[in-house]
Amino acid sequence: MNRKLFALLVVLCCLGFALTAPCPVCTYNAAGDDANTCDPCNQGTCTPSTGTTGTDQSVCTTKACAQGSFSASGFDTNGSGAGCTACTAGTTTTGAQTTGTTQSACTLKACAQGSYSTSGFDTNGAGAGCTACNPGTSTTSTQTQGTSQSACTLKACAQGSYSASGFDTNGSGAGCTACTTGTTTTSTQTQGTTQSACTLKACAQGSYSTSGFDTDGAGAGCSACTAGTSTPQSQTQGTTQAVCTLTLKACPAGSYSATSYDTDGNGKGCTQCGVNTYSAAGATSCTACTNNRTSAAGSTSVTACACPTGTSGPTDGTSVCTSDTTSGQKLTVFVSIFLVLLSLF
Ligand SMILES: *[C@@H]1O[C@H](CO)[C@@H](O)[C@H](O)[C@H]1NC(C)=O
Ligand SMILES: *[C@@H]1O[C@H](CO)[C@@H](O)[C@H](O)[C@H]1NC(C)=O
Ligand SMILES: *[C@@H]1O[C@H](CO)[C@@H](O)[C@H](O)[C@H]1NC(C)=O
Repeated sequence: MNRKLFALLVVLCCLGFALTAPCPVCTYNAAGDDANTCDPCNQGTCTPSTGTTGTDQSVCTTKACAQGSFSASGFDTNGSGAGCTACTAGTTTTGAQTTGTTQSACTLKACAQGSYSTSGFDTNGAGAGCTACNPGTSTTSTQTQGTSQSACTLKACAQGSYSASGFDTNGSGAGCTACTTGTTTTSTQTQGTTQSACTLKACAQGSYSTSGFDTDGAGAGCSACTAGTSTPQSQTQGTTQAVCTLTLKACPAGSYSATSYDTDGNGKGCTQCGVNTYSAAGATSCTACTNNRTSAAGSTSVTACACPTGTSGPTDGTSVCTSDTTSGQKLTVFVSIFLVLLSLF
């Protein structure tokens, strides 16, 4: 053979060898290079590296990372998930075989509590694809899986009770804390961790409302009974004066109240007049004695205002009182002055 021709063949041969490349990852063939067609691994499987030699799928030993995990290649390293990084709780990938090197590969977020989806995750990282529970119901947690409203097993706490979430824990009111007697919440589904969530107060005795509670914690929304009538107790429910079934008594003479009536039809709520004052029955305040006159506590008329000790005056209870000086005292004064004058001469 011609030497030159031989050299040319050697060069062409080496060139041909140099032009082959290893089969790409996820493909294989008997030689492991692309001189012949590289066969692809079945969907979801892969070879551990490029240039894999083999004659059947058994060399495709790595598996796609499951949804919720990722790797640089999207595949694990040994067919059992090793080498795939799990997404942090509450996040997931859009599917299996996700490629990525950081948690940013986990683009989906858990459905918020109160919504659900088949997977428990949204479809865009912003809540899309999660179905909201009907008003007054909720899920037990975030990331709830479900295909119907039956996934929403929690119920709103009833008015008059509260919880941190505003919902119970089992659909039957468990987990909701009742307001203390005489208080309530403004609505169902009230969120709160202390009794301060119970902002409304019972209507005071003598007033009423449809609910029996006020609307602001200070009596607003409660209708007052007309003068001389009252409700039998606080927190009376009603829409008309018909619920003011209690007939009140005017405060007796010698006492008073802001309304001039007692609060229970039995004298409760009337305050006795203090010393040096008096009042007639049905008073809203007591009247002070004038001209320094004095009276005992609970006095019932102006004539009880007497002249103070050492003075005297009419029994009308109002006139000016004059100092009491006896004739004996007058004589002593006269004699004293006389003796003083006498001693001067
Ligand atoms: C894959 O690797 C993990 C972690 O190294 C190991 O626990 C597991 O047994 C391996 N599985 C196989 C099939 O080799
Ligand atoms: C909810 O919990 C309460 C208290 O534990 C219990 O009495 C009630 O039966 C429960 N209801 C349901 C539907 O599980
Ligand atoms: C009331 O008493 C005061 C103090 O003793 C006296 O100054 C005043 O004049 C008295 N007023 C009348 C109306 O008696």
